[in-house]
Amino acid sequence: KKIAVVMGGPSSEREVSLNTGRAILTALREKGYTAVGVDLDPPNFIEQLKQEQIDVVFNAIHGLYGEDGLMQGTLEMLGIPYTGSGVLASAMAMDKAITKRLFMSAGIPTPQSRLYSKQDTDLALVAEDILTTFGVPVVVKAAAQGSSIGVIIVEKAGDIESAVREAFNYSGHIVVEEFIRGKELTVSILGTGSPEALPIIEIVPQSGRYDYRSKYTKGATEYIVPARLETQVADHVQRIALAAYKLLGCRGIGRVDVMLGNDNQPHVLEINTIPGMTATSLVPKAAAAVGIGFDELCERILLMVAE
Ligand code: DAL
Ligand code: MG
Repeated sequence: KKIAVVMGGPSSEREVSLNTGRAILTALREKGYTAVGVDLDPPNFIEQLKQEQIDVVFNAIHGLYGEDGLMQGTLEMLGIPYTGSGVLASAMAMDKAITKRLFMSAGIPTPQSRLYSKQDTDLALVAEDILTTFGVPVVVKAAAQGSSIGVIIVEKAGDIESAVREAFNYSGHIVVEEFIRGKELTVSILGTGSPEALPIIEIVPQSGRYDYRSKYTKGATEYIVPARLETQVADHVQRIALAAYKLLGCRGIGRVDVMLGNDNQPHVLEINTIPGMTATSLVPKAAAAVGIGFDELCERILLMVAE
């Protein structure tokens, strides 16, 4: 069978996706699979697959077209199997506003938030509403982006309006969240029918902010696996992360990002259905902690397509 590792594409996370895709491609070839890299060109995608006579797609696209269900829909129509989550789970998880609504209806704890649409064009009023509702610091997020692009932690009341303007550059709607003080954690999850949580990673960025730079600059962030948590707390966080993954109907692979408050209460931020898979990314670190090497991890994700 011929596998296409589909990567790149036009999203703001293009570079990250190319790194994810190249790492996966190398791993699959190492394992003896026939795999080619395909740089997603949306209007020619079907042509790209036909030209290469592709049997299976390994999805390595972050963000637009590949993480949001669009490519998944195309592949469903073509009858080509693909790794990871399906159309609906992908579309829901890509949108933090939708994800949070679902969490709330299922009793999965998530930071208090408010949603604003770009059509609410009076940004001064939006800023005022944010200040009265949350105060500062407060977190302003473009609803449908990744890698912290369009995420701003606002410290000063006077900076709220410009943060809102910036976030709207990346999304038609934004999620504004209370700032949770505590530990930043992430739970990698593998599987489809009965998914399993890998050891929790505790994220300690040197700058104090886990932003794009801290995510992709070598040495800028310390990762502690397993996270320094009491067993009881760790079990609780893993259980909640698994519940979130199952709630959205995720498949194959995912990473649930969590803030653990200083009171040890977890707050689920979001689910990443195409988590970064460079050799230094979070999911591979969690897998390595239970003895699953990068090549094996990629193979497992591939083989779950048939599940
Ligand atoms: N959106 C990035 C790639 C991640 O979640 O790992
Ligand atoms: Mg994300």
